[in-house]
Amino acid sequence: MNPHVLVPTQPEITVTAETPACEFIHVGKQFDAVKVLRDISLEVKRAEKLALIGPSGSGKSTLLRTLMTLETIDAGEIKVNGETLSHGSWPPEQQRSDGQAARARRRRIGMVFQQFNLFPHMTAAENVAVSPRKVLGLPRKEAAERAQKYLAMVGMGAKSNELPSRLSGGQQQRVAIARSLAMEPEIMLFDEVTSALDPELVGEVLGVLRQLGEESNLTMLLVTHQMEFARSFADRVAFLWQGEIHEVAEAKSIFDNPTQDRTRQFLRAVLEAR
Ligand SMILES: Nc1ncnc2c1ncn2[C@@H]1O[C@H](COP(=O)(O)OP(=O)(O)O)[C@@H](O)[C@H]1O
Ligand SMILES: [Mg+2]
Repeated sequence: MNPHVLVPTQPEITVTAETPACEFIHVGKQFDAVKVLRDISLEVKRAEKLALIGPSGSGKSTLLRTLMTLETIDAGEIKVNGETLSHGSWPPEQQRSDGQAARARRRRIGMVFQQFNLFPHMTAAENVAVSPRKVLGLPRKEAAERAQKYLAMVGMGAKSNELPSRLSGGQQQRVAIARSLAMEPEIMLFDEVTSALDPELVGEVLGVLRQLGEESNLTMLLVTHQMEFARSFADRVAFLWQGEIHEVAEAKSIFDNPTQDRTRQFLRAVLEAR
């Protein structure tokens, strides 16, 4: 690694219960000439459940991906647990640093995608155990026990020896959730995790998310088109429009009394489409 791109040493940070789990501070991002994130400022509290809604192309996935450092930012700053994760003034290679401190910050965050991409030649248990073993260096037995614990948590304990091809889409997605949980992150990101599923399989995955929300103190950020779910699950909902957080409010308030015309139009269109 190039020694010049080490992430700067950060001052000692006192983390309290009030320290946000993550913070976006005037974050901007563009792809070529297109601004996909514009001046995003948002604080997510510890254990908060935040839903992100908005039309296709509004920047929801990009926002989550910047938190995973899968995307760099051009402006502003992202903090996790009070520590700077990436900064618009850092060169891209520095934002993608694989230094130890950067890896440790990143490990606080897990992400589940629409496409679950399990390793097809590994059983459910092996899929969940592989990162704890390879990335965290857990001994084989401990990694296997950890896999079993998280598979049980998503209701897949009895299927641990199955290959993905023998599982339904909903079951595969539950294994993918267990795989992320097994890294024991503090923040979990879910990007349209039910969008690739047949309608009858959506409920079991949403059920797992709801249970996780109720039984863990995970901070959860969730992109979804399931408005009833967002309403009942989330503490707050952020409506993104053209790369901006156009409106953010408590779940009930945004659905019952959106203050912005665009939020209202979007909700009307989504609800009518059902
Ligand atoms: N890797 C990329 N290169 C260029 N443009 C991209 C890339 N990823 C996303 N975009 C663009 O950024 C905008 C926001 O995309 P995205 O974050 O995926 O929106 P959403 O998840 O809300 O549908 C879109 O206009 C999309 O075309
Ligand atoms: Mg998306």
